[in-house]
Amino acid sequence: MSSAGSAFEAAWARRERVAPRPDAPGLFLALAPMDGVTDWVYRDLLTDLGEGRSGISLCVSEFVRVTRDRVQPQVLRRHCPELDHGGRTRAGVEVFVQLLGGEPEPMARSAALAAELGAPGIDINFGCPAKTVNDHDGGATILKTPQRVEAIVSAVRRAVPLDRPVSVKIRLGWDGSERLAEIARAAEAGGGSWLTVHARTRLQLYRPPVDWAALAKAREATRFPVVANGDLCTVDDLRRCAEQSGCHAFMIGRGSMGRPWLFRQARGHAEPELDPPRYRELLHEYVARMQAGGAPERAALGRLKQWLRLGAPAFAEVDALFQAIKGCAELEPALAILSSPDPRAPGRPPRRASPAPAVATAPASAP
Ligand SMILES: Cc1cc2nc3c(=O)[nH]c(=O)nc-3n(C[C@H](O)[C@H](O)[C@H](O)COP(=O)(O)O)c2cc1C
Repeated sequence: MSSAGSAFEAAWARRERVAPRPDAPGLFLALAPMDGVTDWVYRDLLTDLGEGRSGISLCVSEFVRVTRDRVQPQVLRRHCPELDHGGRTRAGVEVFVQLLGGEPEPMARSAALAAELGAPGIDINFGCPAKTVNDHDGGATILKTPQRVEAIVSAVRRAVPLDRPVSVKIRLGWDGSERLAEIARAAEAGGGSWLTVHARTRLQLYRPPVDWAALAKAREATRFPVVANGDLCTVDDLRRCAEQSGCHAFMIGRGSMGRPWLFRQARGHAEPELDPPRYRELLHEYVARMQAGGAPERAALGRLKQWLRLGAPAFAEVDALFQAIKGCAELEPALAILSSPDPRAPGRPPRRASPAPAVATAPASAP
């Protein structure tokens, strides 16, 4: 067995243990940042599953855009209200603040501020494929020049206390994975603590195929941990990705919308593949918490639809819910659909809304 394969087997053998870092004993399963989706309400809800034993190792905030100046404290707090609660969700899972920008100095100053405000770590976004972001020198465009990756990571690393990790999130490259080893070495040389790679190029956006095998190029070129990301939607996907990439640490994004209990399943907890009433109840809880946090109805409806849209590929029942709700212009009929029994996804009345979470101080709308 290769050493990469045995690293996975070792992590898998202790998978019930939640590794807080990709190089810690146990299995590392991070919740991916998803702008407009994984806000603090979502992070709180998911890390609360299993009575706080969700299986999630770490969360990363939606990206905070850094341009010419240091970001303002209120912007950091809006993206990451957990900063006022020790940088953790209610269940105690750490939330790294993610920064996106192309200039080392303002990135470094923003990272220093985030650390001062209590961020347990900083994640740097070099993966965003949005045209407007790329046209303004941010996200995946930086991958075209690995020296810039190194300069930004190194400036951030120097600005943040050494006990706070600085992780780096990238794609395979701009238009191919030929320079992935070079980019990974640049992130490591800059002092990055680990590298998360979404196994697609920028030009691919979210189109198939995901190329888990290409992640080996980053892993073999460096000594720091490489975290695999992209289309990890089932426990079997984790195993297959490990086989192809040699990675033993993972980040899960859209898969969590179809299977919110995936992190627990991966750790060996007995969870059904899909439990429609429980899934619907979770969606009700999501809306209730958003509203308790002050989200306007339209924002809550938009996020509910976004959850179902991203979760729809997982199960016909989730797709059926999305199809039924996507045309709703108001929140109330959408909630009625969630509550109404349906032969394919039988519902039951929602549980009473839980009290506002401890961090319910910030607007729940997209930052
Ligand atoms: C709606 C949406 C928003 C995203 N926002 C971010 C973001 O703010 N920061 C980031 O690094 N990646 C972002 N991503 C990328 C994800 O973190 C992840 O890399 C990608 O979705 C692939 O993983 P998955 O197949 O598990 O979802 C976003 C993805 C989606 C679908």
